[in-house]
Amino acid sequence: MTKKAAPKVGRHVLWFSWKLVTFFCIAFSLVALFRLHLRYDISSSAVSRTRSRIHYDGPAKIAFLFLARRELPLDFLWGSFFEIADVENFSIFIHSAPGFVFDELTTRSKFFYGRQLSNSIQVAWGESSMIAAERLLLEAALEDPANQRFVLLSDSCVPIYNFSYVYKYLMASPRSFVDSFLDRKESRYNPKMSPTIPKGKWRKGSQWITLIRRHAEVIVDDEIIFPVFKKCCKVCS
Ligand SMILES: *[C@@H]1O[C@H](CO)[C@@H](O)[C@H](O)[C@H]1NC(C)=O
Ligand SMILES: *[C@@H]1O[C@H](CO)[C@@H](O)[C@H](O)[C@H]1NC(C)=O
Repeated sequence: MTKKAAPKVGRHVLWFSWKLVTFFCIAFSLVALFRLHLRYDISSSAVSRTRSRIHYDGPAKIAFLFLARRELPLDFLWGSFFEIADVENFSIFIHSAPGFVFDELTTRSKFFYGRQLSNSIQVAWGESSMIAAERLLLEAALEDPANQRFVLLSDSCVPIYNFSYVYKYLMASPRSFVDSFLDRKESRYNPKMSPTIPKGKWRKGSQWITLIRRHAEVIVDDEIIFPVFKKCCKVCS
């Protein structure tokens, strides 16, 4: 996320291409999404029960969720990407520095006007605040039952296919797209995370992922894994 952090993660930088690439991103390892590998019961959450009951038949939207430091430097590219889209088919949410406003002074694309979350927080690279920010984005997007796919994007992501291609591709798949691999040289696992996060479940992956609604709900409603990250993201407090 931050320029400062780039050298530190240099060897982990991936030009990440999904099969039939939809976006490419500078990705770094946040190890956060391995949560999806853990099977745990979320049915205790009243909120998720309510959301899951919503049955939606209208046109499905892709929610584009931008995690930005401040402005979106590639707004002009995204502007032409959204230009050909049907406004019924997508929504945009931005998590940027608290108080930052997207308007005609700060962005070249009208699609971003007023799209910053009102409850955004201060984010620090490599800390759990980054996961918290992603959760806020997912939570906001879940409020609209039309949002059926949730795409997390950094401020350096650019689309390399046009909107209709991306839309068809994502809607045709009933699956989430996440990056997850076992890195044996990785040493960020802290035994204090056990037993909530067992060592055998530890994975690395890009945080720039695409989720189906059910998986977005798992992340937003999680009250088991996130507290461990909050405590142990860099060192366990
Ligand atoms: C979008 O891209 C696809 C594949 O690259 C192409 O076949 C299609 O004509 C494009 N559609 C528009 C509206 O540009
Ligand atoms: C918008 O969504 C409808 C179906 O909900 C689809 O038929 C149409 O192709 C989509 N438009 C674009 C530009 O992808």
